[in-house]
Amino acid sequence: MKPKILVTREVFDDVLEYLSQYFEVTSNQSDIPFDSETLASKLSDKQGAMITLTDRIDTLLLTRCPNLKAVCNIAVGYNNIDLEACRKANVMATNTPGVLDDTTGDFTWTLILATARRLTEAEAYLRAGQWDRWKLKQFLGLDIHHATLGIFGLGRIGQVVARRATGFEMKVIYHDVHRATPEIEQACRARFVSKEELLSLADIVTIHVPYSPETHHLIGKRELEQMKPTAILINASRGGVVDDAALIEALRSGTIAGAGLDVFENEPKFNPGFLELKNVVLAPHIASSSKATRHKMAMLAAENLVAALTTGKPPNLLNPF
Ligand code: GLV
Repeated sequence: MKPKILVTREVFDDVLEYLSQYFEVTSNQSDIPFDSETLASKLSDKQGAMITLTDRIDTLLLTRCPNLKAVCNIAVGYNNIDLEACRKANVMATNTPGVLDDTTGDFTWTLILATARRLTEAEAYLRAGQWDRWKLKQFLGLDIHHATLGIFGLGRIGQVVARRATGFEMKVIYHDVHRATPEIEQACRARFVSKEELLSLADIVTIHVPYSPETHHLIGKRELEQMKPTAILINASRGGVVDDAALIEALRSGTIAGAGLDVFENEPKFNPGFLELKNVVLAPHIASSSKATRHKMAMLAAENLVAALTTGKPPNLLNPF
C-alpha cells in the first residue's frame, strides 16, 4: 500500500502526477487554505505533507498526527515550522533553498527601481487621469547608479542582489551576524560594516535575513531614524523583520524617503496604514513568483517528500536527528 500524503495548497499538475507515482495523494487544487483545525484533521492519518508558508506546524498539530514522518515546505523560509517540535516528534522538515535565489534577487531589484523612481505612484497618477502636462520637477526620484547599496544578510539571496549592483556601478556594503568569506566579499564587491554604519551610509537598505526571534524587528523606529532621510528601505525577506507600524510612521513623517515591500507582518491582513502612503511600493509576497521558479520550488519540495519517505534522506533536511 502506498503511503498517504497531503498537499495543502494548489500545485502544478505534473508535480501531483510525480507524487502519485509514490503516494496516495490528497490534494487541495481548489486552493482554499486550511485553518489549523482542518489541517490537523486532514493530516491525522498521513505520513507526509507538502506544505506552504501559510501552514503552521507546531507541537499541537504534531500530537494529532501520529503517523507523520515528513513535512516539506514549498519555500526557503521555514519560520512556519517549529523544528524542535518536529525533532521531538521524529518528523523530518525540509525547505527549498537555491532554486529561488536568482528570481528573488531579480524581484528585489524590481522593488529597488520602482521605489527609487516612484513608479507605482506615478502610474497611479497617470491612471487617475491627472497627467495634464510635462513638468520639470515631476516625480523626482533617487538615482540608483553610483549610490550606496546596504545589504542586511549576505546569504544566497543577498549575494545575488549584491552581484546585480555592479551594472549600476554602486558601492556595496553589508552587515551579517557572520562575516562572509573573502571570496564571497570579492565576488560581491561588498564591504563588511556594522549595523549602524550600514544604516547611516546606505542610500538603499535591503533586507535578506531569515525571520527568527533574533531578527524580529531588526528594523524598528531606532534603526529607521539612523537612515538618511533620502534613503529607501526594501524588504523581500519576511514580515516581522521590519516593525511595520514604525515604518509607516517613518514614511509618513519623512524620516526616510520610501519603501518597497513584498512581505508584511500579519500577511495577508497587512497594516492598512500602508495604503494611505504614496511613498511605498507594495507587492503581495511574489518575489519568487516566476513560472519557472515556482515550478522548481514545488518539484523540489516533492522530491524532498519522496526521498524522506523512501530513503529517509531528503536533500534539504532542516532538522537532522
Ligand atoms: C518565500 O517567501 C520563501 O521563503 O520561499
